[in-house]
Amino acid sequence: MRIRVLGSSAGGGFPQWNCNCPNCDGLRRGTLRAQARTQSSIAVSADGTDWLLVNASPDILTQIAQAPELQPARAIRDSGIAAVLLMDAQIDHVTGLLMLRERKTPLPLLATPEVFSDISSGFPITGILSHYCGVQRQELPIDASAVHIPALPGLQLHTVALSSKPPPYSPFRGNPRPGDNIGLLITNPQTGAKAFYAPGLAEVTPALVELMSNCAVVLVDGTFWTHDEMQRLGLSAKAALDMGHLPQSGPGGMIEQLDRLPAGVRKVLIHINNTNPMLVEDSDERAELTAHGIEVAHDGMQITF
Ligand code: MLT
Ligand code: MN
Ligand code: ZN
Repeated sequence: MRIRVLGSSAGGGFPQWNCNCPNCDGLRRGTLRAQARTQSSIAVSADGTDWLLVNASPDILTQIAQAPELQPARAIRDSGIAAVLLMDAQIDHVTGLLMLRERKTPLPLLATPEVFSDISSGFPITGILSHYCGVQRQELPIDASAVHIPALPGLQLHTVALSSKPPPYSPFRGNPRPGDNIGLLITNPQTGAKAFYAPGLAEVTPALVELMSNCAVVLVDGTFWTHDEMQRLGLSAKAALDMGHLPQSGPGGMIEQLDRLPAGVRKVLIHINNTNPMLVEDSDERAELTAHGIEVAHDGMQITF
């Protein structure tokens, strides 16, 4: 089973077009040891030819161009992307759907009813796409039952309802429902090895600790280092949890949560905001993560399990 990280950044990317925070500015000037990153997406494949795109980022075309395995070139019009699954309806996870409109057949699209409702009303992507390729809608359960994707029979998937936030444009932003945000459990049918992906995660429940403890690898919310990161930089009035993201540092933070997992679990932070100091490869924050056995995802990262 293969995972390719297409985009390891949170919404905005790194550097962000209008941002002059120390990270974005330092990356542009070449004064920081850090790597640019595109917005939040991974691709998953059982056979290395047919892929599930998990999230369709605004950077999808760049990401496809940087991942030759996503273009198997079997026909005059072709793509390795056989289906798309959405973790939530956030702009950084759904806007790329509009870039996939040149298909000749409806795009197989998997999402919860809550996400389908946001992307057919507040941000009416499915309605827009109906005038192009259209979508073949498959509703995702959130009760941990198995998901079978006809176009990708080799994948064994389960979804998990998570505590986070629907997008700012959703009428449910202030009143999240189960199904607004999900995590994805991917199982290797040959070995039983599992990977868990959750780019937006506000609370790590005991059930989630148990689920992650049984994984070979977890890729979880790496958005913010501190709860007031955006506030301290004067970039936003909101704290990390107001945006549905558990920060890494501090009591009860993601580092503490990941420390609960057995040593054999590979721990990777993903969906990283451009303000996060752990992006700087020689920072104290990065050294702290390394000491805890935690990795920081980068674009092009390949994970086999
Ligand atoms: C988030 O993950 O909180 C959002 O994607 C932020 C955004 O809309 O850029
Ligand atoms: Mn996001
Ligand atoms: Zn920035």
